[in-house]
Amino acid sequence: MTSENGNDRNTDLLLGVMGDPIAQSKSPIMHGAALKALGIQGAYVPLHITGDQLGDAVQAIKTLGFRGVNVTIPHKVAVMEYLDKLDESAVAVGAVNTIVNDNGVLTGFNTDGIGYVRSLKAEAVPDLSGTRILVIGAGGAARGIVSALLAEKPYSVKIANRTAGKAGELAALFQSRGKVAGVGMDEIAEAAKDADIVINTTSVGMFPHPDDLPMDPGLLHEGMVVSDLIYNPLRTRLLLEGLKRGCTIHGGLGMFVYQGAYALEYWTGQAAPVEIMRQTIIDCLG
Ligand code: ATR
Repeated sequence: MTSENGNDRNTDLLLGVMGDPIAQSKSPIMHGAALKALGIQGAYVPLHITGDQLGDAVQAIKTLGFRGVNVTIPHKVAVMEYLDKLDESAVAVGAVNTIVNDNGVLTGFNTDGIGYVRSLKAEAVPDLSGTRILVIGAGGAARGIVSALLAEKPYSVKIANRTAGKAGELAALFQSRGKVAGVGMDEIAEAAKDADIVINTTSVGMFPHPDDLPMDPGLLHEGMVVSDLIYNPLRTRLLLEGLKRGCTIHGGLGMFVYQGAYALEYWTGQAAPVEIMRQTIIDCLG
């Protein structure tokens, strides 16, 4: 007989996160607290999986009766070939961070971009339509975020990147979905002038280099929303520079919480206890 959680062998809900390395991941502690708060019997475990183990590990989701897993660095792209289906969120981003096992059928989702946008709307900008957005960085994180932002109908999205060509390539991917352009960092001053929201998607400023800045903070101006995907430290130097200049600031913790909240909601069908998840991470970061 098949249970409601799509797992025909275990009554407990089995969940986890696959990555390499994995010991540093805060997902097990966050999801553990969420399961407890929801009164769900189960476990969310860290799974150290190397690249050459990935195919077998994905197969084991079915064998062991896991309801689902998160997938993290460096497997978000490589895992796609082992799945039975891809949700449109994963196709748009070209990467998977969440797998759902429905009775042996594995579907890949990407909740990073939509998690970020849910957090930005909940914590800083309730309505993104008509806004001018400047995104710094043109890697995998930027791709997920630009895709999710475009669904909110902003006026424009400008991508500024150290390697200008990559910004142009990323912008080209989304041409059909809105006004998107890519520029090099030499053109960021012009782009920042009329931007309502600036979003750092690079790792510049992340622990253990909290003094680093991804852009000249002199370009931040009053009334702007400054957002950073980094959540360690909770307030990056970019955010602190924004605060000094009268900007509204938005840190990356919400993105982490909401990407996990979406995943948990897909696995359990229940609303995620987001405030408990957020507080768990804050406590754990000290
Ligand atoms: P992620 O999946 O986290 O986005 P990624 O795909 O490796 O990681 O992309 C990292 C992004 O951060 C890129 O836009 C990168 O710029 P380049 O394309 O020029 O490499 C940017 N980045 C990383 N370190 C940087 C630094 N020290 N200064 C400026 N940009 C940096």
